[in-house]
Amino acid sequence: MAELIDGKALAAEIRQAAALRVKSLNERGKTVGLAVIIVGNDPASRVYVNNKKKACAEVGIESFEYALSEDTTQDELLALIEKLNHDDRVDGILCQLPLPKHLNADAVIDSISPDKDVDGFHAVNVGRLSLNKQGMRPCTPAGVMRMLQSKGIEVEGKHCVVIGRSNIVGKPAAVMLINAGATVTVCNSKTKNLSEITRQADILIAAVGRPGFVTADMVKDGAVVIDVGINRDENGKLCGDVDFDTVKEKASYITPVPGGVGPMTIAELIENTVLSAELKA
Ligand code: GUN
Repeated sequence: MAELIDGKALAAEIRQAAALRVKSLNERGKTVGLAVIIVGNDPASRVYVNNKKKACAEVGIESFEYALSEDTTQDELLALIEKLNHDDRVDGILCQLPLPKHLNADAVIDSISPDKDVDGFHAVNVGRLSLNKQGMRPCTPAGVMRMLQSKGIEVEGKHCVVIGRSNIVGKPAAVMLINAGATVTVCNSKTKNLSEITRQADILIAAVGRPGFVTADMVKDGAVVIDVGINRDENGKLCGDVDFDTVKEKASYITPVPGGVGPMTIAELIENTVLSAELKA
């Protein structure tokens, strides 16, 4: 029976530490601010944005929300980001993804000043991560690494299998694991003989976005299983990519959904925003 890695509790600790750093900046006359841009009416994005704003308020970060209509043009969005790049009250800029299809997300991300790119999605920050240099790190994989660390789970020398190749999670997670000395295999939902590969994983990271995708037969006895998925099952209940009830019987450690990686993503966003303010101060 696996031990749970409690992301909710760990995230609360990270926010508490961040709140002290915000207080220290405030005492030196510096406020900390995060601009949050949301375009259109995606209900999941609205929930994520509300959770991010709530976490900001809790640690003393000012959040500035820009809720733009679905028909916002690329030029309007770029003009807003340009204004925020030069706004001293703003230490971090986050544009919630996905964007409506008529907008070019890559161009939007690359218009954000790399120093305010608290998502760590800008090509400059992706390059810094790839070269293992200081920079803003994508929040979800940074949260995953912190969860492993919190349990003293060694990464060096381990075989880590990542299912998912997104720019937000799969790819940066793979690079972070490489930087930490792991042997890394990156798969996706179409990988041939997927379960043969996942069964070799000492650490298995599921970021496919399909409920119950990872079943017990895909997991080696004693493996560490990290579930990045946030899905709804047929009853509308929040669930991950991992079939939790059966996989927990085989794994040594497992992360729950909800209360696992999700809260860690927001805690890392808070930490990136505080770091950006500290670097500027
Ligand atoms: N959409 C899903 N995850 C994320 C994230 O971490 N940041 C942003 N900006 N959008 C997302």
